[in-house]
Amino acid sequence: METKKSLIMLPGPTNLSDRVMQAMTKPIISHREPEFHALHQSILNNLRYVFQTKNDVFVLTSSGTGGVYCAISNIVNPNDKVIIPVFGVFSQRMKEKIVRCGGKPVELPLKWGEAPTAEQIEHIVEKEGDVKAIALMYNETSTGVTVRDLPKIGRIARENNLILVVDAISVLGGDRLPVDEWGIDVCVVGSQKCLACPPGLAMVSVSDRAWEVIEKTAARPYYFDLVKMKEFSAKNETPYTPAVPLFYALDEALKMIREEGLEKRFKRHSTCARAFYKAVEALKLKPFPNEKVRSNTVIAVNMPAGVNNTELRKIMREQHKVSVAGGQSKLKESIIRIGCLGIISEKETIPTIEALEDALSALQYPVQVGTGVEAARRVFHS
Ligand SMILES: Cc1ncc(COP(=O)(O)O)c(C=O)c1O
Repeated sequence: METKKSLIMLPGPTNLSDRVMQAMTKPIISHREPEFHALHQSILNNLRYVFQTKNDVFVLTSSGTGGVYCAISNIVNPNDKVIIPVFGVFSQRMKEKIVRCGGKPVELPLKWGEAPTAEQIEHIVEKEGDVKAIALMYNETSTGVTVRDLPKIGRIARENNLILVVDAISVLGGDRLPVDEWGIDVCVVGSQKCLACPPGLAMVSVSDRAWEVIEKTAARPYYFDLVKMKEFSAKNETPYTPAVPLFYALDEALKMIREEGLEKRFKRHSTCARAFYKAVEALKLKPFPNEKVRSNTVIAVNMPAGVNNTELRKIMREQHKVSVAGGQSKLKESIIRIGCLGIISEKETIPTIEALEDALSALQYPVQVGTGVEAARRVFHS
């Protein structure tokens, strides 16, 4: 009898294709020899396609946090003012990184579930005057919010000669993000989300404008020194030993993205997101974020009164083999988060909604089993 495959419907890490899994079983190679040089070159070419950039791109053997820390610590000198909208756990962590580098965060505190607007950023830029950079979370994974004003914020950064650093860890490859067109100077993504790769790598793009600043940063970090990475990248190497099996996986995942094409990939993510939101509505649940800034890659849903978050996820996991995430920090018990990213399709979306309906019903929430699935199916087949 075939056992049912588990679905990892978390906002990262995510389900992987067999192709990506198998790529990791290739033999280990020397990272100072031609075979690795070719692998590195192939990855960079395809990364530039995914980032939609002509800028330099780097692959770091580190989780996403390392990528964001690399970005901030190469840009921020002591006492530099950096604008940072805080509207969830990950933007709060970005602010803490600015503080650790001796920078002075100029915080824009927002209600969780909302996103910063271009007008709010412009107002701070005018008021503060001597700001060096804007640090922005494009997709706040803890609240399921995407900053839809990012292109306008990019224009504000250019007009005021500010460096724009963007954490796009849970969105790049799953929703629109043309790095050069939107004027993003440093952009960070993690391997384990929309790229459909295992966890353990972070990718960073760096613009010419950013290089001018980075070269003058007094205390660049030793391990994450971008200037050193650039020096080694010129010979298709990394300064220190790279996680070669993960590089193989990334190479394969990027080839798959190229084969699919970015536009088709974004459409697949947005269709699945629409199916999730329609199902949520049909089940009389409420998404957590403000409707205008809902994410296409992380679906955050309020738990109805009387439904225990941990119990619900336990039923989904143990009885249906579907893992979804709870909330974080102050939203720990009050929301669940579903990853709608990577290889997501109808094949993963429908069983997730089925599991959710069944768990809600088991916990006495008055749900008409089947209505969520029906609403989602209409999205896929209309
Ligand atoms: C937006 C965002 N930034 C940073 C991180 C941290 O990434 P990691 O856990 O890979 O270090 C995450 C992880 O979920 C994230 O979603």
